[in-house]
Amino acid sequence: MEVDKKDEREAESSEQVVNPWEVSAKDGGKIDYDKLIDKFGCQRLDESLIDRVQRLTSRQPHVFLRRGVFFAHRDFNEILDAYEKGDKFYLYTGRGPSSEALHLGHLIPFMFTKYLQEAFKVPLVIQLTDDEKCMWKNLSVEESQRLARENAKDIIACGFDVTKTFIFSDFDYVGGAFYKNMVRVAKCVTLNKAMGIFGFSGEDHIGKLSFPPVQAVPSFPSSFPHLFPGKDNLRCLIPCAIDQDPYFRMTRDVAPRLGYSKPALIESSFFPALQGENGKMSASDPNSAIYVTDTAKDIKNKINRYAFSGGQDSVEKHRELGANLEVDIPVKYLSFFLEDDSELEHIKKEYGEGRMLTGEVKKRLTEVLTEMVERHRRARAAVTDEMVDAFMAVRPLPSMFE
Ligand code: TYM
Repeated sequence: MEVDKKDEREAESSEQVVNPWEVSAKDGGKIDYDKLIDKFGCQRLDESLIDRVQRLTSRQPHVFLRRGVFFAHRDFNEILDAYEKGDKFYLYTGRGPSSEALHLGHLIPFMFTKYLQEAFKVPLVIQLTDDEKCMWKNLSVEESQRLARENAKDIIACGFDVTKTFIFSDFDYVGGAFYKNMVRVAKCVTLNKAMGIFGFSGEDHIGKLSFPPVQAVPSFPSSFPHLFPGKDNLRCLIPCAIDQDPYFRMTRDVAPRLGYSKPALIESSFFPALQGENGKMSASDPNSAIYVTDTAKDIKNKINRYAFSGGQDSVEKHRELGANLEVDIPVKYLSFFLEDDSELEHIKKEYGEGRMLTGEVKKRLTEVLTEMVERHRRARAAVTDEMVDAFMAVRPLPSMFE
């Protein structure tokens, strides 16, 4: 009986696809994150862990924790156990530079990583996988490198501390100790295994097959001898959206065989497309997302025209029935980016019970996002080439644990 149920669940969940290249829900519906936790074998991030974060950092947990945006983890409890005993860790996250501008979804792991860096006072490595995007998006090597530097400016604009942060491009950095770890990892993963995890097929070029170890090895401190000499046991925590989980399932599988600690993960759900909560935003449709380069006018137009509303067709019906908050994108977006918990609750109640109209909620969302994007634009404009060079210089970080 139990087995039948499990088979049934697996058959259903096999219809939603979540991997680094594709995010699509069953029958165009919502991603079922509970099923994803089951299928991937990660753990749910529960209240008790969030309380522990609050206690250990003596500050209010980030909105993304309070509201369940980061909802899953692997061994985050072990990172906290060690931290409680005085053992620090390092953070690792990344970006595949496939386009000039980031959309708001891409900012989520970086905003959250900045909070973790400040709250726990720990170093951070950020990988720019220009090699990955060169192979998957058919960009030239030079164009991928250019985009990596452009994206680095957006990442720096999120406010990272240069004394604790190393940003690197694979094309520039891969070699030496990093490459040795890549070869160690590669030897542990059979072709069958890689096909199972990543869905590679015989038609894929061998560049793709060779890539996963590149994303795996920043999880190991020995890949950064200039940062962590003699600290081979330093634990690594990776914040990312759950689409990146396959890379780190492989990494965690291999780590003990190499005598390394498994990286821990803290994973978010997806910031949805304007058209509705059925997956990731698409670069091929600029109206599916808000970009950090959008003007105030673009933001207003996109929200007014494309943000899927859970409101009713007529004002009368809306006053009577209220909005369906489950499918409403303006409310969903506000729940990511409106800091004030009581204002959010107020909007949900008034809108859900029909006293507030979609237009009013969209207006508030437009204000919140315009303010955020403007702030980002100003911060990015202040990022100079010298600052990019400073973040990307291969150097020790003397004050990284202070
Ligand atoms: P990339 O460039 O596709 O995405 C960068 C980061 O943004 C997350 N993300 C999202 N988060 C919330 N909502 C969304 N709609 C959304 N879309 C993307 C991704 O999960 C990622 O964290 N191969 C990686 C680059 C990479 C990396 C890493 C990422 C290298 N090492 C370590 C995370 C951790 C990539 O192409 O990410």
